[in-house]
Amino acid sequence: MDKLLISGGRPLSGEVRISGAKNAALPILAATLLTQAPVVLENVPELRDIATMLKLLSQLGVRYRFGANTLEIEASKPESVLAPYELVRTMRASILVLGPLLARCGEAIVSLPGGCAIGARPVDLHLKGLKALGADIRVEAGYIHARAKRLKGCRLVLDQVTVTGTENLMMAAVLAQGKTVIENAAREPEVTDLAEFLVKLGAKISGIGSDVLEIEGVDGLDSGPVHHVILPDRIETGTYLTAAAITQGCIRTTHTRPELLDAVLDKLKEAGAAIIHGPDWIELSQTSRPRAVSFHTAPYPGFPTDMQAQLMALNCIAEGVGIITETIFENRFMHALELRRMGADITLEGHTAICRGVAKLEGAPVCASDLRASASLVLAALAAEGETVIDRIYHIDRGYERIEAKLAKLGATVQRIRE
Ligand code: UD1
Repeated sequence: MDKLLISGGRPLSGEVRISGAKNAALPILAATLLTQAPVVLENVPELRDIATMLKLLSQLGVRYRFGANTLEIEASKPESVLAPYELVRTMRASILVLGPLLARCGEAIVSLPGGCAIGARPVDLHLKGLKALGADIRVEAGYIHARAKRLKGCRLVLDQVTVTGTENLMMAAVLAQGKTVIENAAREPEVTDLAEFLVKLGAKISGIGSDVLEIEGVDGLDSGPVHHVILPDRIETGTYLTAAAITQGCIRTTHTRPELLDAVLDKLKEAGAAIIHGPDWIELSQTSRPRAVSFHTAPYPGFPTDMQAQLMALNCIAEGVGIITETIFENRFMHALELRRMGADITLEGHTAICRGVAKLEGAPVCASDLRASASLVLAALAAEGETVIDRIYHIDRGYERIEAKLAKLGATVQRIRE
């Protein structure tokens, strides 16, 4: 298993190009199952999760060519409706093929994702919504069996805001008979990017970007070749900006969308960073020790749970006390235990982490437990005195494209140890 070796203590400086958003690319890849038209996607990040989704899609009979962040993909005739356990267990987002397969083929057999390092993460709301759309759903021997000759539009009120749940139901509803209304829909920009892609395919969706999506079902989505550029990754953007803040550096992130990061930029400003931006870039400069920040995570446009771990790393070396409450996932503080091994002073009380900033962190061997936890360990290592070895970095390869090359370009001393 690869490790990252980081020698900390250098302020980051320079420019970093932001990749396409993993969480937009994954549902859009799944949505290509809805059409036999050829699709060209640009700005697709080269990541482990994307490779996993492509492996799954090719098992379903989808043909593709992928290189230089451009994906040519065509699902002219799905050959299978089975998403096997081996793939779903490595990536929960595999559940995103459920809605499109059911809508296009009338049937889907998808392994039930288990729990994961950050919590139980059930898919009950996906299944409840599909049932309401008229699907016959059975769960047998760890697999979801879904069937419907044709789904029927209806009004869905989601009990809880769910990102992939909203995406699955929207993808199922675009080919349903009649109108579907999804209330309490997730408003994450990645949901919007998917909706905009579906509209390019010929879907009829209104309320895009709001928490009420209205979908008028159509008979087919084969209006012709489609071209789409994946939205920039707001979490990758926020991670590099926090890396600059934690090292008291100055960097510019390019090819990004500042308006998608309001909640994160507000917290970084509160921490003392000077931030300026143009239409597609953000520059952050931190000239003194950061101040600790407090926040709770919330669905978009609130503070994203996917940036919680990185801001906790910042709080570790900040002046003062930061209180972070995680409201989305029940077990998303695994990084706190590893940060403590580097000298952080963090107390956990249920869903709340109280972090008293220390003057310095010290490099140590640590272990990544999930994607964003590994990002927080990288940030802590960049700020720490001495060397940190981060084990299990396959988690980071799931969601950060060429992280060591990008950090090295910003002046960090970072090396991948291959094993
Ligand atoms: C997506 C993102 C992930 C992000 C998360 C929250 C992708 C591929 N992943 O994950 O990076 O951290 O949104 O912004 O886009 N829930 C249920 N029942 C369900 C579905 C969800 O109880 O059927 C709960 C979850 O356990 C969680 C909350 O709802 O507590 C939100 O989860 P959800 O938005 O569904 O997360 P994901 O879509 O899995």
